Amino acid sequence: MNRKYRKTIIAGNWKMNKLPSEARSFVDELRALMPRTKTCDTVICAPYAIIPNLSRAIKDSRIAVGAQDVSTHDSGAYTGEVNIAMLSDLGVKYCIVGHSERRAYHGETDTDVNVKVHKLLEAGIIPIICVGESLEQRERDLTIEFVAYQVKSALYGLEPKDIKRCVIAYEPIWAIGTGKTATAEQAEEVCGAIRAVIRSMFDARVARAVSILYGGSMNAKNCDELLAQPDIDGGLIGGASLKTADFARIITGTVSAPPVLPELNREEGRGE
Ligand code: 13P
Repeated sequence: MNRKYRKTIIAGNWKMNKLPSEARSFVDELRALMPRTKTCDTVICAPYAIIPNLSRAIKDSRIAVGAQDVSTHDSGAYTGEVNIAMLSDLGVKYCIVGHSERRAYHGETDTDVNVKVHKLLEAGIIPIICVGESLEQRERDLTIEFVAYQVKSALYGLEPKDIKRCVIAYEPIWAIGTGKTATAEQAEEVCGAIRAVIRSMFDARVARAVSILYGGSMNAKNCDELLAQPDIDGGLIGGASLKTADFARIITGTVSAPPVLPELNREEGRGE
């Protein structure tokens, strides 16, 4: 983390779990367990059907609501889809795009991701852009190349001021829902490479302002080590975000993770 230059964000991705009627009690329990002072931005990305109840439940709290996807279309005859205007109307502040489950099961392409990122930013919603390699790609030593391509493609055509509002989530596919977490070194290597890609596309000022999250079996036990890495600015959490105690523990982890000194970053040429 590097609080001097960018936000620390802990975002839960509930995926297709929980019921609308469970939103209120979850939020009440979580609020009771959260640290008293704000140490990070806390987000819950819920299924569409839960968002209205969740938006009501988080009112006057430090929790923001996120969606898990959005249509590339503005409105019209697109049965089953949900557009950005609907999300805005419900008070949604963040939206996941390009999650590997959307890419794998719903054919979401890099072009779709790029269109969604542009439209979300226009509407004032922060995109959480997911990137990450498969196990096969990692084993073939293609991780950095593949992730760099995904990042460049997602950010194509954006202005520096827009990039600073984007959040990138590095989620190695092999670590999602498997209990196999990337080591802190593996996660830091890729998150650092993502920042280097942004630096090469824009400049160091832009790159150091972007929050980069890690996702993939992050939990109450392994969060501290991951959050202590200079280029990891938070987490996108699946399974562990469904339990208030675990999610609250990860949020609390942002209190204890030491802030990275900018002088060290400059020396190492990363982490900025
Ligand atoms: P898990 O934390 O369950 O591995 O899921 C990660 C994820 O896909 C978050 O978007």
